[in-house]
This record gives sequence, C-alpha cells and structure tokens, in this order.
Amino acid sequence: MLGRLLRQASAARRFAESAIPALSRCSLRSYSSSTESQVPNSTFVEHLEDQAATTISIDRSGLYNPPEHSHEPTSDSELVKHLKGIIKFRGGPISVAEYMEEVLTNPKAGYYINRDVFGAEGDFITSPEVSQMFGEMIGVWAMCLWEQMGQPSRVNLVELGPGRGTLMADLLRGASKFKKFTDSLHLHMVECSPTLQNLQHCNLKCTEGDNNGENIEKRTISTIAGTPVSWHATLEQVPSGLPTIIIAHEFFDALPIHQFQRASHGWSEKMIDVAEDSLFRFVLSPRPTPATLYLMKRCKWAVPEEIEKLDQIEVCPKAMDLTHTIAQRISLDGGGALIIDYGLNGVVSDSLQAIRKHKFVNLLDSPGTADLSAYVDFASIRHSVEEASDDVSVHGPITQSQFLGSLGINFRVEALLQNCTDEQAESLRTGYWRLVGEGEAPFWEGPDEEAPIGMGTRYLAMAIVNKKQGVPVPFQ
Ligand SMILES: C[S@@+](CC[C@H](N)C(=O)[O-])C[C@H]1O[C@@H](n2cnc3c(N)ncnc32)[C@H](O)[C@@H]1O
Repeated sequence: MLGRLLRQASAARRFAESAIPALSRCSLRSYSSSTESQVPNSTFVEHLEDQAATTISIDRSGLYNPPEHSHEPTSDSELVKHLKGIIKFRGGPISVAEYMEEVLTNPKAGYYINRDVFGAEGDFITSPEVSQMFGEMIGVWAMCLWEQMGQPSRVNLVELGPGRGTLMADLLRGASKFKKFTDSLHLHMVECSPTLQNLQHCNLKCTEGDNNGENIEKRTISTIAGTPVSWHATLEQVPSGLPTIIIAHEFFDALPIHQFQRASHGWSEKMIDVAEDSLFRFVLSPRPTPATLYLMKRCKWAVPEEIEKLDQIEVCPKAMDLTHTIAQRISLDGGGALIIDYGLNGVVSDSLQAIRKHKFVNLLDSPGTADLSAYVDFASIRHSVEEASDDVSVHGPITQSQFLGSLGINFRVEALLQNCTDEQAESLRTGYWRLVGEGEAPFWEGPDEEAPIGMGTRYLAMAIVNKKQGVPVPFQ
C-alpha cells in the first residue's frame, strides 16, 4: 500500500515538474451560494406517498412569485416561440427541467448549440480556461488510475461536456512524455453542440488519419499525442468493452433539475407557464408530477432533519440516471470516473442560476441567451452508484483544493515559475489562486469587482472506481 502510494506520489510529482510553457488564462465562473429555509415538516414523505395521481393540473391561484424581470415586448426568438408552443399545445406548463433542457440543448437554438460561450468575451470561464495546470492535474489523476488498472494497452478516455476541449488538450500535452500512457488512449468526447465539437477538433489539433487504404471511415487523430478521437452525443454511444476513464468537469451542473416547493398540501413542483401578458412565469402544480417519484427517492436517502429545514428541494433525475450508466460501465469494463463540479454533499435547496456576460440574470429572461446551471447533489450521486452496482466504490467528495494540492499542483506551479516572463508569472499565480484559493485573493491590487475568487472549496471532486482498482489517488 505504502509502495503504491509512493509510486503514485512520484508519478504526480514527475508529471507536475515536467516543463510546459505557461499560458495566460483569466477570470472564472462564479456563482452565489443557495439559501435554505428552516420550515419544518416531518411528514412530507408519507404525504407524497399518499398522492397517487401523476397528471399535471395547474392551480393558478397559488402562484410562486419570481423576482421582477424585465422583458421588452420585442419579437420572440425561435427558442421562446418553441417554448411557448410546447406550453400552448400541451395545454399546460412545463417543468423547470424541461425548460432547462430546451434552453441549454435544444438542437436548433439551445444556449450551447451554436456558440462559444466561454471566456472573457463569453458568459463565464471554467477552471480549464483559468490555467493549463487544471487539465494537467486531471492528467496526473488519470495516469495514476491507469497505473492502478495495471497499465492496460487500450483505454477509452471519455470526457463528458468538454466545452472548448481545453482540459483534454492540456491533459494530452502534459502527459505526452508518458508515451505508454498516451499510446493506450482512445479519446471519446461526449458533446451535444456541433459548434463546440468543431472547437474541440481544432484545440486538440486533429487531423484525419490514414486508414491504410481500407474502405472504412477515416480515423480522427489528435496530433498533440497521436491519439484517436471520436465524438458522441451521449455516453451510451461510446463503445464498451475496454477499460474506461471518464472525466466530467462542470457537466452535471448543466443537467436539468426539477424544483419542488413546500406548499400547504405538501411538496409541489414548480412549473413554467406563459402569463396573459405573454411573459414566462412560475406556477405550482397542485398535484404530484412524474418527477415526484424522484423527489421521494431523494428524500428517502436523506435524514429527516436534512429535509425538515428546507422549503425548496431540487432533484436531478438525469444525474441519477447518468450515474447509473457510469457505474454500470465501470463495473463491466473496469476503470473509473472523476466528477468535479460546484455543489453540496447533501440535498440541494434552491440553486438554479442564470448567468450572462459574467452577471446573474433572471432565469426566465430571454431564454437561450444565458447559461443555466444548478448545484450538484454529490450525496445523490453516491446513493445512485451504490444502487447501481456492488462492484464499484465511491470516494469523496473532497474539495478541489485538497484534490489539486494532493496531486502536486504546488510542484507544478513552482516548476512553471522557473521559466516564464513577469507577466506569465502574474497570470500563473492568479490562476493558481483561483483553482485552490478560497474567497477573494488577498494579493489582488486591481479593482475590487475584478478580484479573483477562489474555487478551492466551492468546487468538489468525487471519484467512482471499479473496486478491483483499489482506492484512487488522492482519496486515500
Ligand atoms: C459548463 S460547460 C463545461 C465545459 C468544460 N467541461 C469546462 O469545464 O470548460 C458544459 C458542457 O457540456 C455540454 N453539454 C451540456 N449538456 C449536455 C448534454 N446533455 N449532452 C452532451 N453535452 C452537453 C456543453 O455543450 C458544454 O460543452
């Protein structure tokens, strides 16, 4: 055990110290924390179980009042027309989850589908865009797991929601000296957006590989480390049968959530309707909706005191289902998954946020022009894994700061600082702070509103691995 730990630590350190020029990336995605109410109700689970009907009808008298939002009477966008069409032809409101799914991933007009949303010019910036060190450290984690897997000669490395492809490009660049590892990889990018798929193709420096004259589709190769790459719309489409390493960074937070509110008759699902003035508004369903089954399941996983203090609860059936798929894949094929996101290790109350141009905006304003995301319920992921398979184990969550620190980010930043300009050093220090720090950076001398906010404790890391692999680094 000690020998293995030392081997892993030394792999991390070797990797962390291998010199790669520092690139400047700046600013980060930032969200406020959720507010939780203290209203007690110890009997709600029984109450929900009593409610057998699953049709939706709307009590327009008990409206939920969202914060004021401005909505100029301009002509509706294609997406707004589409959402209103669904509500009209279905003859009733849609769930927050359906709204979120349409807004983010509608194949024609979804937020992610036709644009690059990242960076200073976009709406938010994520850790891989903050510093190359993030993707490199994920590479250290993947390599350590590959060693624990017995260094298989063929591995599927899957990334869920790869954004610009920056994390994977930095991972490959950093790992390219470890040829035995990179030669084993086949990359699988699970991405719904054609625009982002093109950007990933470009950032991974892909070429269409030779197929030796055979009459088969040409292989796409990332020239960073000579690795084959394929794209898929879902994890299910990734071929099975090989040991698999799955990375999900800021993917679960984009999965659609249902919101429930405590009402006089029990828990009611919050729905989205069109008001007489043609604006979207929230309403409460007076009867149980199909998603109530997931609420019941989630509440059974919690202790009563955790639920009693809440008057709103979010549940994410897609996250539960995806976790099942991940656990079953890892159980059958071996390997593991790493999930990093902002969230809680417990029931999430009311966290759904819309963000446009680095500012919070109203959830119902101009859908499709702002990112929507919600806190990830890590405890629910743990329970979903335990439900899905006995052959896999769950580790964490631990904070991003603990995760990156244990993998050797300190060594890496020191190595990079040896060989860079003053400007690059400034950017490296700021990037390092953003990845592992907490609160506002104490060294910041610029404008207050631009002070870097550390993601070190708000972001959590969790690993799911096949039990044959033992405990993954750095969760021991
Ligand atoms: C918040 S971004 C995170 C991007 C990247 N992981 C990073 O950290 O920079 C979410 C990513 O997931 C993709 N995505 C969101 N929902 C998806 C879905 N249902 N299926 C496939 N990809 C999805 C988006 O297009 C985007 O690439």
